This record gives sequence, C-alpha cells and structure tokens, in this order.
Amino acid sequence: MPAPQNAEAREVYEKERAHVLAPWTAWGKHDPMVVTKSEGVYLWDGDDNKLLDFTSQLVNTNIGHQHPVVVKAIQDQAAEMCTINPAHANAARAEAARLISSIAPEGMNRVFFTMAGTEAVEHAIRMARRHTGRVKTLSAFRSYHGATTTSMNLTGDTRRWANDYGNTGAVHFHAPFLYRSQFYAETEEQECERALQHLDDLIALEGPDHFAALIIESIPGTVGIMVPPADYLRGVREICDKYGIVMICDEVMSGFGRAGTWLALDNFRNGPDDWTPDLITFAKGSNSGYIPLGGVIIHDRIAESFKDTPYTGGLTYAGHPLACGSAVATINLMRDEGIVEHAKKLGEEVIGPRLREIAEKHPSVGEVRGLGCFWALELVKNQETREPLAPYGGSSEAMAKAMGAAKAEGVLLFMNYNRFHVVPPLVITEEQVREGLDVLDRALDVADGYVD
Ligand SMILES: Cc1ncc(COP(=O)(O)O)c(C=O)c1O
Repeated sequence: MPAPQNAEAREVYEKERAHVLAPWTAWGKHDPMVVTKSEGVYLWDGDDNKLLDFTSQLVNTNIGHQHPVVVKAIQDQAAEMCTINPAHANAARAEAARLISSIAPEGMNRVFFTMAGTEAVEHAIRMARRHTGRVKTLSAFRSYHGATTTSMNLTGDTRRWANDYGNTGAVHFHAPFLYRSQFYAETEEQECERALQHLDDLIALEGPDHFAALIIESIPGTVGIMVPPADYLRGVREICDKYGIVMICDEVMSGFGRAGTWLALDNFRNGPDDWTPDLITFAKGSNSGYIPLGGVIIHDRIAESFKDTPYTGGLTYAGHPLACGSAVATINLMRDEGIVEHAKKLGEEVIGPRLREIAEKHPSVGEVRGLGCFWALELVKNQETREPLAPYGGSSEAMAKAMGAAKAEGVLLFMNYNRFHVVPPLVITEEQVREGLDVLDRALDVADGYVD
C-alpha cells in the first residue's frame, strides 16, 4: 500500500511504522492504512478516500462508528465517574449486568466483566475448571477464541500453531461444515449426526471424566461463518450433560445482533424452555468496542459454585464504568431503534438474496452462507474440486487483487484466507448495503480471472 500523500496522515504512518509493534504482523512489513475519520458506516483513509465499512472493523462496530448517543453517554459517564475499584458497586456496572443478563436465556442471571473477548474466554474456562475440578478442554479446529495462552490453545485455526505449548489439555474436534465435510456427508442432517457421533467418540477415547469444558462459537466467525445445522448445538448440550462437561457458547463475535438475533444461539433454541449453555462469553457488539469490554454470562447452576467459595479471578478494570456505561447506552439504543430486527431483515431480504445471485453468476464463488449481517463467500479455483482460491492460513494474488478492486471503488471488505465476509455495521441502510454488494459483484470479476 503506498504511504499517504496528505502530510498529517503521512506523519502518523511514519510514526506508527517506527514505534508500533502491530498485532500478528512483522513490523518490517507493517504497511497500515491510516484512518483519519470514522462516522456511521464510513471511514476515511489518509488520502481522504471515503470507504464503506463492510467489516465493522473486527466485526465489532455493530452500531456503526461514532454513534452520537453512545459518544454522549461516554462523555456523561466520564464527567460523573471515570474509574473505580471493582470491589465497589457502581451504577453503570450494575445496570450493564442487568441488561446483559436480560438478553441471555432464562437462568443466566450473573455477569463477570472483563476488558475483551480473550479474557472472557480465559475466565470462562477457569470457572469451568473450578466448578468441575477437571482440566481438559474441547474446542473446534475451525475456531478462534483469543490470544492469551489458554484461549490461544483453545483456538483451532492457524494462529494457534506458533503459540501451542501442547500441554494445556486442549483437545480439538471437527464441528459441522457441510461444504468441506470431514464426514462424507451430503445433507445437513447427515453432517449434524456424524459430527455429534465424532465428538462423542473423541470424548470417550480422551477420557470423559477429565474434561472441564467444551467451548464453541455459536456460529464460528473469523474462521468462516459456518451456520451449524439446526440441531447441532442441542446435540452438543446433550453430550456435555452426559459427561458432566461445562458448555460454553462463545458469542464474542456472533452476539449482540450480528446474526439477526440478540445472541446467535437464539437461532438454535425452540423457545425459552429449550437447552441453554452454562456460560456465554461476549465482548465486541456489547458496546460496539467504543471502550474495551467483555465478559462471561453465568448460568445459576454454575454461579452456585461461587456463592460461598470465591471465584479466584479478578481485574483492576473489571466492570469499568466507562465501558459499562457505553454498554448500557448501546443496548438501550439497539432496543429503542430495533437494530437487531433490522439486521435480521437485511439478511433475509437483501444480503442473502443478493449474495445468492452473485454466487450464481461468478465461477469463483463456491458457496455463500450466513444470516443477519454475518455472511461469508467461499472463493474457489474450481467449483467442482472446491480448491480454495487461497491456501488454508495463507493469501493469494487473486484474493488481494479482488480486495483491492473493491477498495478502489470505495468498499472495505473483510478478507480471511479464501473468504470475503460481508459483515457491515447493523445500522447500514438497505440502499448502502446494495451499493456495497454491487461493488463486491464487480470485484469478483477479478477473482473469476483466476479460476481454472
Ligand atoms: C469468537 C471469538 N472469541 C474470542 C475472541 C477474542 O476477543 P478479543 O479480540 O476481544 O480479545 C474473538 C475475537 O475476534 C472472537 O471472534
């Protein structure tokens, strides 16, 4: 990427390159886009190009950028109380906990606050270990759960490899993914049944009495937005019950409206009396990331373990008033403005149908899948063989060129290996989303040029 020409942005770029060790990046190759302004569903780069944000950054700005209601709530909270010892109660934390519990299934009434999704996962696993007295964990190969030692070892995707110490008790399994089935399945029902059988067999061979927790993204996010078959999570719950394993649904990316429901798991429950997880991890959409926030929503049956015996974990900023104040404002805003319902409608009436039309037209598109404002396009060299357009864990000229073509037309796409994700802020209008999808349609002409 050429450095920005605008003098102020160029200074930012040079300072950043001289002094910042950017995440997941070799600093010698760090070549970032400078962002000078963000508002609603748009960003402006260092050369004043206006970009439609089809990424929601790292899929967190569900209410868009700089929403005035939440910016004002943060300003008001800052004027009232910026920070306080987490041993004290404060109004923002108490109300955030009440509101967050209210979007969770019945019986999930207590919240442990963290600063991000990684820590939420770290603490959920520790709670499960304390609750069961066991150590080992289960998670999917195609998963991302965070960047600290425990959460990274739970993570299945390639980001784990260099950080895997091989001694954390993390065991991985294949979650359902019909398009690239490990089970030679041809239907969703077969994939579901065989994936559950595989999980049960794996646990039996690994020692059922040794597992504290199973963590699963209700809809896996960064790794490909594979919406599971309708009964899969219910089946996982049954297996966890059979072996006394704590079930954790990771909703860090999929929660807070992203999948057209408050929590993605709502899509797989038949009403309030249906199955529930034991713990839910959340972060990103809870306050759109305006101030770092995450946490664990705890079912009463787990919370009971920490009623008379303390939970051995805490953070100086647990339930930080600025973060919690912004979550209160965000959740109220999402309710008042029907943002979750809007996301659902966009998925059903605009994004889904238009992406299916795009898939019909382009030989480089192997599959489209998703719901709400949470969609992936799987790009392939060949629709028959399904060979990915970039290798697992890597990138390719084809992907980079298609991404560049979209950006040149003013749309920022989320790219991961051989996939583009369509994950705009949930407040995007129908017209804006259509404009972005038209650009994506044209950018895929570039990808088509690399098809065998
Ligand atoms: C499902 C899931 N879990 C956990 C995390 C880690 O969250 P954070 O980056 O806020 O620490 C992420 C981040 O993308 C995620 O998508």
